[in-house]
Amino acid sequence: MNKKFMTDIVFDYRKAEPFFNKDELVSASRMASDARSELINKTGKGSDCTGWIDLPKDYDREEFERIKKAAAKIKSNSEVLIVIGIGGSYLGARAAIEFLTDSFYNLRNAAPGADGLQIFFAGNSLSPKYLNDLVKLTEDKDFSVNVISKSGTTTEPAIAFRIFRELLIKKYGEAGAAERIYATTDKQRGALKKLADEKGYETFVIPDDIGGRYSVLTAVGLLPIAAAGCDIDSLMEGAFAMRELCLGKDFEHNPAMQYAAVRNILYNKGKKIEICSNFEPSMHYIGEWWKQLFGESEGKEHKGIFPAAVDLSTDLHSMGQYIQDGERMLMETFVEIEMSSAEVLLSSEAEDTDGLNYLAGKDMTFVNSRALNGTLLAHEEGGVPCMRLTVKDQSEYSLGELFYFFEFACGVSGYMLGVNPFDQPGVESYKKNMFALLGKPGYEELSENLTKRL
Ligand code: PA5
Repeated sequence: MNKKFMTDIVFDYRKAEPFFNKDELVSASRMASDARSELINKTGKGSDCTGWIDLPKDYDREEFERIKKAAAKIKSNSEVLIVIGIGGSYLGARAAIEFLTDSFYNLRNAAPGADGLQIFFAGNSLSPKYLNDLVKLTEDKDFSVNVISKSGTTTEPAIAFRIFRELLIKKYGEAGAAERIYATTDKQRGALKKLADEKGYETFVIPDDIGGRYSVLTAVGLLPIAAAGCDIDSLMEGAFAMRELCLGKDFEHNPAMQYAAVRNILYNKGKKIEICSNFEPSMHYIGEWWKQLFGESEGKEHKGIFPAAVDLSTDLHSMGQYIQDGERMLMETFVEIEMSSAEVLLSSEAEDTDGLNYLAGKDMTFVNSRALNGTLLAHEEGGVPCMRLTVKDQSEYSLGELFYFFEFACGVSGYMLGVNPFDQPGVESYKKNMFALLGKPGYEELSENLTKRL
C-alpha cells in the first residue's frame, strides 16, 4: 500500500467493554454514524467551521511553500523565535514541537553555533514575571516574532506582541522589525491584519472556516513547526491518511467513530471525566492540546465530558491514588508510542544492591510499556473503563495522524452529545469581566456592577 494512504494508529476499547453491553454499542455506533454524516455533509451545528475536514487534501499549496521559506528565513537571521498566541493559536504548535524535537531542544539550541532556533511561547498568560524573564532572555539575541491571533484582539497575545514589537523596533528600526514579524491572522479582518498591512509584515491566513482549536494544520501550527526544523510535508501526509480512514462509513473500520461512540456511552453511564494518559513526557502538550480540543468543543449547555490529562508514570505518584481508588466517574484513554525514538539498555551490576539485575539487557521501552500495561490493567480492575490509542512513533507522519484522529473524533463526539463542537461562547464571559475591571471604554456599567460584587 502507498505510504501516503497507510494509517498506523490502532484504537482498542476492549478494556472499556465490561462497562456496557452490545445493544448499547450498536445504538451508539448508529449515533456515531449519523454524527459522521452530519459532519462531512456539513448539515450539523457550526458546519461553517468545518474547513479542517478537507484541509489535509485541499490546503493552500502556495502558502505552504511561503511557510517553508519564512521558516528558512527565520532560521537564517534569528537565534530565537517568539511565538505569540493563546489557546488554539499556540497549543498545537507547542504540542508538535515538544513531541517531535529533542527533549532539551531549547537548551541545545542555546549553544553557540547551534544550527536550530530556540523557540519560546508568549502571550498565553498575563504573568508579568514570565514576560519580563523572556524579554531578558531575548535582549541580546537576534530574534523574530510570529504573532498568531484570529481575532487580532485577544488581550494576552496583544500585550505580548506590543512588548516584543517595541523591542524589535528598538533593536532593528521599523523596517528591520517588519522583516522579523510574521502575522498569522484572519484573511481580511481584525486589528492584527490591519497593522500587518500598514507595516508590511508578512501574513499567513487562519481560514474563516477553521476555529482556533482545529487550526494546527494551518499556518497557525505549521510556521512554528517548520521553524523548529520539522517536516511539515510529512505531517500533512499523516493527516491525509487519517482523513481517508475517518471519512469511512464502516464503524468497524473507523477508529474515530469508535472512540466517539465509546466515550459517549461511558459519559451517559456517569463517567463524566476522561483522563488522557501518556507515558512519554514529550507528550505533555499533546495532552494540553487535547484538553482544549475536547473541553472547548463539548463543554457547553451544562453538558460534556471534563477532559483531564496526566503524564505517567510521573503522575502515578501523585494522581495515581485517585485514579485507582477515588470516585468512579472516570474513564481513561491511554495514548501509547509503540516505538520510542531512543534505545536505553539496562546493564547488569556485580552487586545487585538495587535489585535491578533482573532487567539487565532490557530496553527502557520494554520497561515503559510494561508499566503502561500494568497501569491499564490496574485501572480497569479499579473500575475505570480504559481505551488505548497506539501511535507508531514520534514522527511527523504519526503526529499528523494523531491530530486528525482527535479532531474528527471530537466533531463526531460533539454532535453525538448534541452540542455545536465549533463555537466557544463561554470563553467570552471572562473577557467581558476582565475588560470591565480593566476600565476598557464601553464597559463602564458592567465595571460598576462587578466592583460592587467583589
Ligand atoms: O479555539 C479557540 O477558538 C480559542 O482557543 C482561540 O484560539 C483563542 O481564544 C485565541 O483566539 P485568537 O486566535 O482570536 O486570539
